[in-house]
Amino acid sequence: MSQNKQRYTITAALPYTNGPIHIGHLAGVYVPADIYARYLRLTGNDVAFMCGSDEHGVAIPMRAKKEGVSPQDIIDKYHGIIKKSFEDFGISFDNYSRTSAEIHHKTASDFFKKLYEDGEFVEEVTEQLYDAEADQFLADRFVVGTCPKCGHEEAYGDQCENCGSSLSGTELINPKSKITGNVPTLKQTKHWFLPLDKYSDFLNEWIVEGHKKDWKPNVHGQVKSWVDDGLRPRAVTRDLDWGIPVPVEGAEGKVLYVWFDAPIGYISATKEWAAREGKDWEPYWKDENTKLVHFIGKDNIVFHCIIFPSMLKAHGDYILPDNVPANEFLNLEGNKLSTSKNWAVWLHEYLEDFPGKEDVLRYTLTANAPESKDNDFTWKDFQTRNNSELVAILGNFINRVIVLTHKYYDGIVPESAGNYEELEQVKHFPDVIASSIERYRFREASQELMNLARLGNKFLQDNEPWKKIKEDPETVKGIMYVALQIASAIAVLSEPFLPFTANKLKNMLSLDTDLGWNDISTKYILIPTGHKINPAELLFDKIDDKTIQAQLDKLEATKKANEAANRVPDPQKEIATFDDFTKLDLRVGTIIEAEKVRKTKKLLKLTVDTGLDKRTIVSGIAESFTPEEVIGKRVTVLINLAPRAFKKAKADSQGMILMTETPEGKLVFVNPDEDNVKNGETIN
Ligand code: 2FM
Ligand code: ZN
Repeated sequence: MSQNKQRYTITAALPYTNGPIHIGHLAGVYVPADIYARYLRLTGNDVAFMCGSDEHGVAIPMRAKKEGVSPQDIIDKYHGIIKKSFEDFGISFDNYSRTSAEIHHKTASDFFKKLYEDGEFVEEVTEQLYDAEADQFLADRFVVGTCPKCGHEEAYGDQCENCGSSLSGTELINPKSKITGNVPTLKQTKHWFLPLDKYSDFLNEWIVEGHKKDWKPNVHGQVKSWVDDGLRPRAVTRDLDWGIPVPVEGAEGKVLYVWFDAPIGYISATKEWAAREGKDWEPYWKDENTKLVHFIGKDNIVFHCIIFPSMLKAHGDYILPDNVPANEFLNLEGNKLSTSKNWAVWLHEYLEDFPGKEDVLRYTLTANAPESKDNDFTWKDFQTRNNSELVAILGNFINRVIVLTHKYYDGIVPESAGNYEELEQVKHFPDVIASSIERYRFREASQELMNLARLGNKFLQDNEPWKKIKEDPETVKGIMYVALQIASAIAVLSEPFLPFTANKLKNMLSLDTDLGWNDISTKYILIPTGHKINPAELLFDKIDDKTIQAQLDKLEATKKANEAANRVPDPQKEIATFDDFTKLDLRVGTIIEAEKVRKTKKLLKLTVDTGLDKRTIVSGIAESFTPEEVIGKRVTVLINLAPRAFKKAKADSQGMILMTETPEGKLVFVNPDEDNVKNGETIN
């Protein structure tokens, strides 16, 4: 466990500003990073926790084009939403910057120039995919095609998301422009390449051999396989008009590759923060004693473990990461989270739907974090974690301690009496939880915290102060004294995981705000006899089935909308002759009566004025319309369809009303759009 002050630079992947933050981002990156940063601060370390918006991703100009706005509009909108939702959720960044900031443009430009001047790049003219209609080269996400390694048909020009291979656009089979859908041609263009092959030995020695044991197996494994496959030079410039201009002569119209500039964003964010705080930024990036830790998702491993370290190495002034604890992915109700498909629980929407329940989401995402394999978020699990753990264990223990202390002692901590082993047991928890956090095992750490609350609950249950208060008040004093020490330890140790709860708890216990992590095991008394505590506040309350169902309904609506958007029209039927068509007698009519057919879900029994007669038609539209809604509707009726008996309607249906469907699956009538067409008019 960290006893001495150590300097840490902690980074959390810079999110792209082409959409809001969802639970996948939180579980994979921001919640674990925040737990780590908060823990390190509590243990007295010097922490710089850096993040910001990644505003040069190619999805940004693409989205802007689609929405008919400028890329600047897109980044301003999402930078605002993302920054606010992080703040409201209690992610304790020391700085949340953005890569459009001037300081970043300068830092990234200078970084490139230094490598250029030191001759670290290879300059090469190559043939690249080009979309003549859009007058644009097609790198990265601007082109899709079939992956040459696994055959996946939607591979991008930089990576196949199916097999994880790194690709270049020209390797794709059957490439297609994402801008126009055209098949691209080849055109010559000059670019600057970072010769990753030159860093292969260094990466092998440093990560593959050097971090076999202390880096997560998923991270180590990916790096090893990249290095074993042989690294190739990687272009760090692009022919695009959105990004940081390449700062050398002969590079007009070219920008830095977004993955070259984005990680430098961590450095720029640190500079911006240090200037604001009156600190020196350099030790956070240049002092060998500083520990640099990158929190990222698994799709970012290659960039943080191969490309960025090679850039840092080439530059020469910077330290390398101490660890890159990448997480796997979180799914939602069995399906992959997706910004474009709106398959997500969006942080800003969660904060609106569940005010005051920030910690419930933090806890659920931590207890079920995708640390070593992909995991699934379900609303049912969220409800269970809240009701059976936060409410029933932690909340219940704290509530009993506070309420009983007020009831028996007017809120004054009683004297210690008797020797309870629980006081000794509490002292082990800081080390146990710290050991899990320091090994990036946040799930385990959160469960140890819950075990401390379990210990408290069991202690009260076993000792039953409420039964002893009359006949043995002295013993009860001792019991409540111990329970108050456990509650105080929870107030401190819960801070990294449940910061809002920890604050409330410290306030309820009126705790010394300086009480730190290490005090739990070293101080004999956390909350002294005679100390006055505040009244109980509600920490957690039950989440009912209706609330959960509302979230599930929201997802169901998304699923339906996606299905509708992807719906392909039915194929054309067999050819009908003109004679076939003229056999059908289609007329304009009006529904004049309607009633539900009892014991059926779908059927309405209608009376339709066809202009020739008033007849009964039984129609399967009851799930889309009430009887009242359809009375008076103009309709198209097939009147010479052979009559069909409907037993439950106790009638023969004498025709059929023509309907079609909206993308959402709601039925609509097919009717003439002129009101003065008379009933009985033939449709042909
Ligand atoms: O994958 C992503 O969302 C990237 N925007 C992460 C960038 S991390 C860093 F390098 F800036
Ligand atoms: Zn593939």
